[in-house]
Amino acid sequence: MSTMNRSMMAVLAAILAAGANAELPERDGYTHMGVATCATSQCHGSAVPRDGSSVLQNEYVTWTQDDPHSRAYAVLSNAQSQAIASRLGLASATSADICLDCHADNVPKAQRGDRFQLSDGIGCEACHGGAENWLASHYNTATASLESNRAAGMYPTHRVDARGELCLSCHLGNRDKFATHEIMAAGHPRLAFELDTFSELWRTAGRQPHYQPDADYSDRKGGVNHLYTWAAGVILESRKRLQLVASERFAGDRLFPELALYDCHACHRSMKSVQWRALPRHGGVGPGQPFLHDGALVMAMVVARVISPSDADAFESGLADLHRASSTDVAATQAAARSLDATLARLENALSPARLGNRELALLREVLATGAEGNYLDYISAEQAFMAVQMLVIEIGDPVLEERLDRIADTLNDDERYRPSRFAAMLASLENPEHADEQ
Ligand code: HEC
Ligand code: HEC
Ligand code: HEC
Ligand code: HEC
Repeated sequence: MSTMNRSMMAVLAAILAAGANAELPERDGYTHMGVATCATSQCHGSAVPRDGSSVLQNEYVTWTQDDPHSRAYAVLSNAQSQAIASRLGLASATSADICLDCHADNVPKAQRGDRFQLSDGIGCEACHGGAENWLASHYNTATASLESNRAAGMYPTHRVDARGELCLSCHLGNRDKFATHEIMAAGHPRLAFELDTFSELWRTAGRQPHYQPDADYSDRKGGVNHLYTWAAGVILESRKRLQLVASERFAGDRLFPELALYDCHACHRSMKSVQWRALPRHGGVGPGQPFLHDGALVMAMVVARVISPSDADAFESGLADLHRASSTDVAATQAAARSLDATLARLENALSPARLGNRELALLREVLATGAEGNYLDYISAEQAFMAVQMLVIEIGDPVLEERLDRIADTLNDDERYRPSRFAAMLASLENPEHADEQ
C-alpha cells in the first residue's frame, strides 16, 4: 500500500462518510426492480467489457455465467435441497422463507417491481440495494456521484464495514435469518467465511471479474486494501458471532444458545484419535466440552497483538472467560459474549489502514506464532489461519512462499480428517521468510 498524503486522506474520508450505517438491501424498503432492468446491452449486459467506461458493463453476463449467487435459487430445487426440505417438514425449499432469505432477494411482495423474479436468485439489488430511486440516474456521470447514489438508496458495497455486514448476513446469518443446527443436521453444508478471501474468490470466479479495482476505481472509491479488509473482516465477524450468541433469539432455558454457533468439529470428529490439549485461550476448561466457534476470534487476536497489545491482553482474558462461561450456562455465556464484544468494539475503533500500514510480515509472523502456541488444533481456526496466510503471502509477493501455499491447503482438504500436526508442519515451511526479508 502506498503512503497517503493529506488530500488522499480527505478523499478517503469523504468516500467513507458516504454510506455509514446503511440498511441492508433485504430491509431497505425500496422497490427492487429486478435483474432484467440492469441487463440491457447499453447498461450492464454488454457481452464484453467496454472501453471508455469507468465500469466494465458486462456485470450481468459475468453474474449469469459464473457468479454462484445467480444459481442460489436454482440450488433450492436440487436433490440436496429437496432432502433438507423433507427432513425439516417443509413443503418445498423454493417456497420456504427460511431458505429464500439467503438464497434469493426475498424482499416483501410489495417491494417487487414488474420485472422482479424471485427465481433470479441473489440478483444485483440483493447486494446493491433496491434501485427504485437510482435506476434512472446512477449512470449519469455528469450528475451522479457516490453520495447521490447512496442518498437514493444504493448500498455502499465499496465500504469494507458495509460489505462485511452484507456478505455475513448470509454467510454467517443475522438476527433475521440463520442456518441453525437443525438445518445443518438436515443436510445443509457448514458455513465458512473470511471477507477478503471470499471477496476475491467471488470477484474473480468468472472469465471476467465482477469489477476491476484499477486506478480509476481507486480514484472513485478509495481502492482495495487486502490487509485492512481481512483485519476489519475478522473483527466484524467476531463481533457478529458474539452478538448472535448474546441475542434474544438464542436466550432461554436451554443447554446451548444454538449449536450452529459452536465449533462443529468439537462434536463431529472421530473418537479414535484424541486431539484434545489444554489451550490458554480456552481458559482452563477441561476435555469433552464443546467450544463456541472462535475461528475468526483467533484471527482477531492476531490483529490485536500486532496493532494494540493492550487490547490484546483484555481480549485474551475475555476469550478465556467466554469459554469458561460457556461450560456453565446460557446467561453467563451471553454476559461474557457481551463483554468480549465491547473489547472488540475498542479494537475495531483502533483499526485503520494507517494503523496496519505495511505490516504484512509482522502479521504473518504473528499468525505463525499463534499457531506455535497450539491454537490451530481445531479445524475452524486452521481454516481461518490459512485464509489469512494466503492473503498475506500474496501481499508480500514472494513466489517461493506462494508455491508452498498449495501444500498447506492440501492438509485442509477434508475437515473430518484434519490432522493438526500435519497442518503445523506445513505452516512451519513459511517460517523464516528470508526471501520476504530481502524485499
Ligand atoms: C443464513 C443463510 C442461509 C440459510 C438460512 C440457508 N442457506 Fe443454504 N447456503 C447458504 C450459503 C452462504 C451457502 C454457500 C456456502 C459455501 O459454499 O460457503 C449455502 C449453500 C447451500 C447449499 C449447497 C449449494 C451448493 O452449490 O453446493 C444447499 C443445497 C443449500 N444451501 C440449501 C438450503 C436450503 C434448502 C435452505 C433452507 C432450509 C437453506 N439453504 C438455508 C446460506 C444459507
Ligand atoms: C454478492 C453481491 C453482489 C451481487 C449479486 C452483485 N454485485 Fe455488483 N458489486 C458488489 C461488490 C461487493 C462490488 C465492489 C464494491 C463496489 O465497488 O461497490 C460490486 C461492484 C459492482 C460494479 C462496479 C462499480 C465500480 O464502481 O466500478 C458494478 C457496475 C456492479 N457491481 C454491478 C452489478 C450488477 C449489474 C449486478 C447484477 C447483474 C451485480 N453487480 C451483482 C456486490 C455484488
Ligand atoms: C443474500 C445472501 C447472500 C449474500 C448477501 C452474499 N452471499 Fe455469497 N453465497 C450465498 C449463497 C446462498 C451461496 C451458495 C450459492 C450456490 O452454491 O449456488 C453463496 C456463495 C458464495 C461463494 C462461493 C462459495 C463456494 O464455496 O464456492 C462466494 C465466494 C461468496 N458467496 C462470496 C460472497 C461475498 C464476498 C459476498 C458479499 C459481497 C456475498 N457472498 C454475499 C449467499 C449470499
Ligand atoms: C455440542 C455438540 C455439537 C455441535 C457443536 C454440533 N453438532 Fe451437529 N450434531 C450433534 C448431535 C448430538 C447430533 C445428532 C446426532 C444423531 O442424530 O445421531 C448432530 C447431528 C448433526 C448432523 C446430522 C448427522 C447425521 O448423521 O444425521 C450434521 C450434518 C451436523 N450435526 C452438522 C453440524 C455442523 C455443520 C455443526 C457446526 C455448525 C455442528 N453439527 C455442531 C452435536 C453437535
